[in-house]
This record gives sequence, structure tokens and C-alpha cells, in this order.
Amino acid sequence: MFPFITSQLKTIFMGFEQYHEPANELSDETRTFARMIVSLTEEAEAINWYEQRISVEKNKEAKAIMANAQKEEFKHFGMDLEFLLRQKPDWAKILKGILFKTGNIVDNGEEAEESVD
Ligand SMILES: [Fe+2]
Repeated sequence: MFPFITSQLKTIFMGFEQYHEPANELSDETRTFARMIVSLTEEAEAINWYEQRISVEKNKEAKAIMANAQKEEFKHFGMDLEFLLRQKPDWAKILKGILFKTGNIVDNGEEAEESVD
């Protein structure tokens, strides 16, 4: 009915979608954490979108450019994750028990979770 107003309101509230609690009650650290979680999910989405585009692209040069761009998103995802892990030592400890390990992933995850209990 009022597309301009709807669009304007959407823009105003878009920045607050990452909060599940009133933003003014959250500490600066928690708001930064929330922003970085959103960034992490956006990088994961970008990796997924490139994966799908690469899968269907027939032009080899275009495919190579997309693969290069996807690598950049891997880096962004990794930097976001590293930032978050530095804020949450238990999360870091659990991931140390899961990532870059051989063996059964579920078993490694269970052992890693127990290590922080
Ligand atoms: Fe990115």
C-alpha cells in the first residue's frame, strides 16, 4: 500500500534484526559479538552461493573467477570465526577438539564438549 514507507521502515529496522534482546540493554561487547555472528553467517551464505554458481557455470573463466571469490569468503569466514573464538574460550576449546582432527567427528565433538564441562 505504501511501498516507500514500508521500504524505509525495513531499512530502519534491518540493523536491529540481529538482536533478540533490547539493544540498549546489551553491552558494547555483546553487540559487537552479535554483529560478528551476523557477519559469520553472511560469509557462510556467500560461500554457499558461490558453491552453487560454480556448480552450474559452464564458462571456465567465469568459473575460475567465482572460485577465486569464494576463497576470499573462506578467509572472511575464518577471520570472523577467529574473532568470535577469542571472545568465547569454551567455544574455542570445543572447536580445538573437533577441527582438523582425524577420527569420528561425532565422537570428537562429544569428547570436546565434555572437556569444557
Ligand atoms: Fe565476504
